[in-house]
Amino acid sequence: MFNKMRKTKEKDVPVTKEEVLRHPMPNHVAIIMDGNGRWAKKRALPRAAGHYEGMQVVRKITRFANELGIQILSLYAFSTENWKRPKSEVDYLMKLPEQFLTTFLPELVAENVKVQVIGHTEALPDHTRRAVEKAVEETSGNTGLVLNFALNYGSRAEITAAVKQIAKDVERGMLAPEDITEPLISSYLMTSGLADPDLLIRTSGEIRLSNFMLWQLAYTELWFTDVLWPDFTEQHFLEAIAAYQRRDRRFGGVSAR
Ligand code: IPE
Ligand code: IPE
Ligand code: MG
Repeated sequence: MFNKMRKTKEKDVPVTKEEVLRHPMPNHVAIIMDGNGRWAKKRALPRAAGHYEGMQVVRKITRFANELGIQILSLYAFSTENWKRPKSEVDYLMKLPEQFLTTFLPELVAENVKVQVIGHTEALPDHTRRAVEKAVEETSGNTGLVLNFALNYGSRAEITAAVKQIAKDVERGMLAPEDITEPLISSYLMTSGLADPDLLIRTSGEIRLSNFMLWQLAYTELWFTDVLWPDFTEQHFLEAIAAYQRRDRRFGGVSAR
């Protein structure tokens, strides 16, 4: 009886690429790629198998974001807190950029994708850092999708480093305290030159930011899904974008609709 009185659910028609392309696309999509470990556990596989599968999804979603004409795709790959994991898992994660880039770099070059990195890359093992630097160099002239990897990234560490640098520049007389504006602070962050994310996706059912882009996400639309990262598909990505396109971004003002 009660059920009958409920509003009928909207029809579950899957959103299509064509539909999504008819509406304004988010310029910058950021993803907290989470759930690799649980994906592996469900299959009684080692956690590394989940990370390997997750890497294949990175390829798939990068290709798709490029096809959709998204300008910036930021991917949280390793946090400053992830060093707490067992050494064997950290070692495996540090091998992934090499694996990913040696096989995928030629395609990224050909597809006009520009690879960038944010995070404390100086603390990465040499082999990891070299692989990433090579990708950044070889794609530096590209003008298409910016593929921004957050590697050994933590937002509080980033903000702390920016505040320190601003203080030094004030001390040296290069800046006056009055010069410290919001755009100036943005320009001292690792994301300097990149617009703030329009849409943040987090997979695996966790509803938190885990120290990701705390300053940059101030007005970002957030979209969470229970889907584990290795199970994430183009269709899920379309659903996230369609949800974003239905939102009314007011930025503290009144509706423009
Ligand atoms: C995300 O998957 C990848 C990294 C954080 C490197 P997890 O490894 O966090 O997977 P869960 O959360 O344990 O399932
Ligand atoms: C966030 O995932 C970091 C990355 C996806 C790289 P975690 O799995 O590390 O986050 P918590 O521990 O669940 O907050
Ligand atoms: Mg996790």
